[in-house]
Amino acid sequence: MAKRYYITTPIYYVNAAPHVGTAYTTLAADAFARYHALRGEASWFLTGTDEHGMKLEREARKRGMGPRAFVDEMSARFREVWPILHVRPDDFIRSTEPRHMERVQKYWSRCVARGDIYLGKYTGLYCVSCEDYYTEKDLREGRLCPVHDRPVEMLEEETYFFRLSAYAQRLLDFYERNPGCIRPETRRNEVLAFVREGLRDLSLSRTSFSWGIPVPGDPKHVIYVWFDALFNYLTALEDGPRHEQFWPPDVQLLAKDILRFHAVYWPAFLMSAGMSDAELPRTIFSHGWINMEGKISKTVDESSAARRRRLGTTDPKRIAEILGADILRYFLLREVSFGEDGEFSHVRMIARARADLSETVGNLLHRALPFVTKYFDGKVPYAPRESLTDVDTAVIACAAESAKLAASEWDAYAPHRALEATIDLARAGNRYFDENAPWVLAKNGDTARLATVLYHVFELLRSVSVQLWPAIPERADALRTQLGLDALTPRVDADLWPLPWGGLAAHTAMAPGEPVFPRFDKVSEAALLRDLGVEDDVVERVPAKQKARTQAVEQPSSTDGSPGVIDYDADFSRIDLRLGKVVAAEKVLKADKLLKLTVDLGEPGGPRIIVAGIALSYTAEAMVGRQIVVVANLAPKVLRGITSHGMLLACGPNDALSVVTIERDCPPGTRVK
Ligand code: MSP
Repeated sequence: MAKRYYITTPIYYVNAAPHVGTAYTTLAADAFARYHALRGEASWFLTGTDEHGMKLEREARKRGMGPRAFVDEMSARFREVWPILHVRPDDFIRSTEPRHMERVQKYWSRCVARGDIYLGKYTGLYCVSCEDYYTEKDLREGRLCPVHDRPVEMLEEETYFFRLSAYAQRLLDFYERNPGCIRPETRRNEVLAFVREGLRDLSLSRTSFSWGIPVPGDPKHVIYVWFDALFNYLTALEDGPRHEQFWPPDVQLLAKDILRFHAVYWPAFLMSAGMSDAELPRTIFSHGWINMEGKISKTVDESSAARRRRLGTTDPKRIAEILGADILRYFLLREVSFGEDGEFSHVRMIARARADLSETVGNLLHRALPFVTKYFDGKVPYAPRESLTDVDTAVIACAAESAKLAASEWDAYAPHRALEATIDLARAGNRYFDENAPWVLAKNGDTARLATVLYHVFELLRSVSVQLWPAIPERADALRTQLGLDALTPRVDADLWPLPWGGLAAHTAMAPGEPVFPRFDKVSEAALLRDLGVEDDVVERVPAKQKARTQAVEQPSSTDGSPGVIDYDADFSRIDLRLGKVVAAEKVLKADKLLKLTVDLGEPGGPRIIVAGIALSYTAEAMVGRQIVVVANLAPKVLRGITSHGMLLACGPNDALSVVTIERDCPPGTRVK
C-alpha cells in the first residue's frame, strides 16, 4: 500500500483577512503536499479557520454583526484565497462545523473520564488576542502582552482545569523517545526548557462569553478555544477510513507564536484522550516569521500599519493578481530559509523571480525553442544514444544528481535548498547550451549534433519542470506545455519525480509560446511596484533592512565610495562564493587582458568556463592547478564571444593583480563564508 502523508496548517483566526504571513504557512504546506503526492504517496492536506472565542465575538460586535454571520463571511475569504494562490487543500475545516464541535465534546468527555479535567477558580491576566492567560513575569512593561503589545485584562472565573502538571514528565519522555517530533532543533530545545521548569494546570473553560463549544453537562461554560482548535486536526478526519488511513499527522506546520500550544498542550491532550506514542503527531515544525519591518500580522498598531503601507501590499490576492501567484510562492519558498525568519520585499520578490525563473529557466527554454521551429518542424528532436559525447553524459548525470539532491531537501523540509538545486540544474543547462553553441551547429549544417544538443536541453528542462512543480505548479505546467508534455497529475503509487533520462519522447509536437516567466524589464518592474503599492523612496532605498541597520549604527553608507554596512541574511548570504580549482587555462584570442579558465567547482555537470581579466598579471600556465575563489551565482556574461559563468576574486592594479586563494587545501565547491 502507498505510503500516506498527512500535513496540516494552523486553523486561522478569522478576525482579519488572510495576509502574506498566513499565506506563507499554507503555501508551504501545499508545496510539501504536492511534493509527496508527486512521489506517489497518498497525501492529505488540511487547513481551515478558527472561529470561536472572545476575540471573534467582540470583533463581530464591533462591526455590528452577530458572530455567526461574521465568521461565515470571514471564513469564506480564507477558503476563496487558497485556489487563487494555487493552494489545493484536501479539506477545509471550520471550528464552527457540527462535525468538529461534536467530536471536541467527545474528546473532552474522554479527558474527564481519565480524571484530567476538574472544576476550580482562576484569576489571571488574560490577553484577548492570544486567548491565553499570562503570568506577571511573561508580560512586557506596562502589563502588555508579549506577543501583541496590548494591555492584558484581569479575569476571574470559575473554570475547568486540565491537569497539565501531571504530564510534564510524560511529555519529556515522549520528546526523548522521538527526537524528530519538534523541529527545528532550536525550537525543540526551547520547548524542553519550558517543560523542564514544570507545568501548571491549564484553565480549560470560560464563562465570560458564550461564543464557543459548550462544556458537556455544564453549558454555562464554553470550552477554551485552544482545546477546541487543536482538535481540528483530528476531528476533520472524522471517524472511519480517513481517520484510519491518515492519523497521526506526519507534519504540522506553524510559526513560533503557537509552538507551545502545539508541542506541549496538544500532545498532552491527546495522551489524556488515551493515545499512545505512535498515535501522536510525528513532527511539529515551527517555521520563522515573515517580516516587513516587523512581523506581518493583522494586529498591528496604527503607526506600524502606516509605515508598512508604504512598503506595499501584504494582501496575497492582490499580489497574485499583479505578479501571478507562483511568483509569490517562489519567492517565499526560495528566499526564506525554512525554519528561520525572512524579510518580505516586493523588490526582492521581483529580483528573485527575474534571476532564477526568467533569466535562467525561461532563458534556456526560449533560446532553444526557435531551433526546433526552424530545423525540426516544431517536434522534439531525436538524439540517438550511440552519438552521445562526454558532455552529454555529464549533463545527464547532472540532472540525476540534481533530482536526488532536491528530493532529499524537500524530504528534509528545506524547500529553499531544494529549489536552489533545481535552479543550479537550469544553470548547468545554460552552460551546456552555450558551450555546445547550437547556432554554430545550425550554421554548419550539423543537424545530427544539433538534435542531440537540443534534446538534452529539453530533457533537462523536463526534469526542472517536475522539480519546480511543488513550488510553482501553474508555471511548471506552462513550461511543460511548451515542451509538449501534459500537466503533472499525481497518482497514488506512481513516483513522478523526474523519471529516468529519456522521458521526453522524440518527435512529439512542442508548443512554443509566450514567455513562461515575465521578463520584468526596468519599465515593467517600476509599473508593477507602483501597482503593488510600493512607494518610490522605498524602491530606491531597498534593502530596507540594510538601511535600517546602517542608520542604527550611525554609519552613513558610502562617504568614501565603499558600499556601507550590509546585512548578513539580506545581502552577504546571497553571494555564493565557492572554492574552485583551475583545471585548464588559455589566452583569449585578440584580448590582451583575458584568460579563459576551466574551473572545477565540484559540480556534477563538470567544470565551468570563467573568463577572467588577469592576463596582464598571470600566464595561462601559472593559473593551472590554482585554488581560486569564485562568485558562483553571478549571471552569465558573454566576453569576446565566450560565456563566462562566474567571476574570480583578485585585488591590486590591473597589471599586478593578486588572485585570492586559500591557505589549506579544500575540495572544489566548498562554500567560502
Ligand atoms: N487560531 C490560531 C491557531 C490554532 S491552530 C490549532 C492562530 N491563528 S492565527 O490566525 O493567528 O495564525 C497563526 C499562524 O499563522 C502562525 O502560527 C503561522 O503559521 C501563520 N502566520 C501568521 N503570520 C505570520 C507571519 N508573519 N510569518 C509567518 N507565519 C505567519 O494562531
